[in-house]
Amino acid sequence: MRTPIIAGNWKLHNTRDQAIALSTGIKSQTSDVTDVEIVVAPVFTALNAVADALRGSSIKVAAQNCYPQAQGAFTGEVSPQLVEDIGCNYVIIGHSERRQLFGEDDAFINRKVHALAETGLGTILCIGETLAERESGQMFNVLRRQVCEGLKGLGIESMVRVVIAYEPVWAIGTGKTASDQQAQESHAFIRSLLDELYGAQVAGATRILYGGSVKPDNVDGLMAQPDVDGALVGGASLKPADFVRIIKFQKV
Ligand code: 13P
Repeated sequence: MRTPIIAGNWKLHNTRDQAIALSTGIKSQTSDVTDVEIVVAPVFTALNAVADALRGSSIKVAAQNCYPQAQGAFTGEVSPQLVEDIGCNYVIIGHSERRQLFGEDDAFINRKVHALAETGLGTILCIGETLAERESGQMFNVLRRQVCEGLKGLGIESMVRVVIAYEPVWAIGTGKTASDQQAQESHAFIRSLLDELYGAQVAGATRILYGGSVKPDNVDGLMAQPDVDGALVGGASLKPADFVRIIKFQKV
């Protein structure tokens, strides 16, 4: 009922030529995949080239960030409209690296949610607790705040293009994946929040991805959880064989 999404967040990696090679490699090795939505998120400088290289395939392209204004005196920023103009499908917002390294807060991320709702782009809204927050018993409060503040004021009609990515900060780039049970617990909680905010139909239809050290050897167990609808993959998405294996996760 919810088509799984496997998305590769390339972060600050790959030149334009490397990005084209990686995306065309993924394309040629996944032509038999029909039941998974594949997304790649290159750096801004490679977005156009990757969107062109993948045009005509079912692989979708995401930007890793955007600024919540269409245009104006905002030196160094890129708007959702410009991302859409070059043929992208999604924008990732609220990634923990942006929250932690660039000081983005829920209110700013909420402005991006609204800016994206003005376009035809999908939103991949990242949330997740730090280790200190988990260990001090704050995890559910943090997730509640990030979901409620992040989606504040967003109409139910816009939810059809929203995807949530649960990425526990302690699992990102550390090799420490959440256990299947930890992922399921958080995903079920996030779905219950969507139910509170938007009702059962939206809660049942919204894809919730897991991110944080997803690898070929743990994807099958994660994807077997009833509320895990896909993965947002960092490091392993840069290795074609690993990413293709993750896309072709085994139903256990
Ligand atoms: P890793 O898969 O490298 O842990 O990164 C996860 C992530 O941050 C995806 O957005």
